[in-house]
Amino acid sequence: MRTSWFAFGTLIALISCLTDVSCQRKKCLGPQNYCSGQFGNMQAVCVGGYCVCTGQDYDYNTCLPDAYGCKIVENTDAALAKPQYNNQQQKTNYSCTPVNSSTQYEVHILSVYEAERIHRRPPVANDATVNIVSDGKSDRPIILVLGSYESVNWILNLPADITIIKVILVAYYLAESNVSGDVNQVQVIERKRCCSQWSYGYGSDLGGGNTVGLLKQVYNRYGVVTSFTGTYRADEWSLMLSNSSSQGIETLLMYGIVDQFRY
Ligand SMILES: *[C@@H]1O[C@H](CO)[C@@H](O)[C@H](O)[C@H]1NC(C)=O
Ligand SMILES: *[C@@H]1O[C@H](CO)[C@@H](O)[C@H](O)[C@H]1NC(C)=O
Ligand SMILES: *[C@@H]1O[C@H](CO)[C@@H](O)[C@H](O)[C@H]1NC(C)=O
Ligand SMILES: *[C@@H]1O[C@H](CO)[C@@H](O)[C@H](O)[C@H]1NC(C)=O
Repeated sequence: MRTSWFAFGTLIALISCLTDVSCQRKKCLGPQNYCSGQFGNMQAVCVGGYCVCTGQDYDYNTCLPDAYGCKIVENTDAALAKPQYNNQQQKTNYSCTPVNSSTQYEVHILSVYEAERIHRRPPVANDATVNIVSDGKSDRPIILVLGSYESVNWILNLPADITIIKVILVAYYLAESNVSGDVNQVQVIERKRCCSQWSYGYGSDLGGGNTVGLLKQVYNRYGVVTSFTGTYRADEWSLMLSNSSSQGIETLLMYGIVDQFRY
């Protein structure tokens, strides 16, 4: 009984959180009303005791990126990619699956700060496995963007009938990062070192990443992304190709099934 009441309470809290932006906002800190993100492009300021972001590429209330067609939200099931660490779902994940993504390319961004808690110096790449699942409906050339700050060896696990036209590897520790696994099904691997022209970010820029910069580079080349999914740390991913999942959500929204839970 106690568990179900707890679950019920959590549900109520969740529902009021979805309708009330104030619970997504962070309180300003200390006598100086400090807000992280106040010195960069986020232009965070303290309004009525809470931090809001006035930078043009960020959502005013959540301070998450809202740029180049990708409005990032926290902790949704709608994300096409699912990150895990040590076989567990991560506390906080960031994602967008824009309705109006590029009609020319199917572009998925997977991004982390790191793949492992402990880092050696000089860096040694930590493995992150990417299991790709396809429902066979992808009709556009597929591009995969893999981003990290620390060095990551991304191990691709692709269905036999899938070809990726390009993998773009973006990292701060780029020399020690790599793409391996089913690379025979990848036509081109491009390596981009963060952080001059290409940036790295895992979805929230409050800790100093530049997700907006990453979205910009991808947008300039391929248009609006099909999906972005990021989290601080992950060593295993599954990615559902094509837009069928987001269409699923759209269909639910259309029939008001999701809305029922939202209000
Ligand atoms: C993100 O986190 C939320 C809350 O923990 C979870 O319900 C959701 O499935 C996660 N999404 C992904 C893509 O991992
Ligand atoms: C998507 O594009 C269509 C057609 O251009 C437009 O009517 C619609 O408002 C767009 N939807 C969003 C969410 O931007
Ligand atoms: C989604 O995929 C279908 C085919 O599977 C395609 O016709 C449609 O244009 C795609 N929509 C978007 C927004 O990419
Ligand atoms: C990167 O991965 C490729 C493909 O598996 C492999 O041939 C190459 O040796 C790796 N490079 C490094 C520096 O580990």
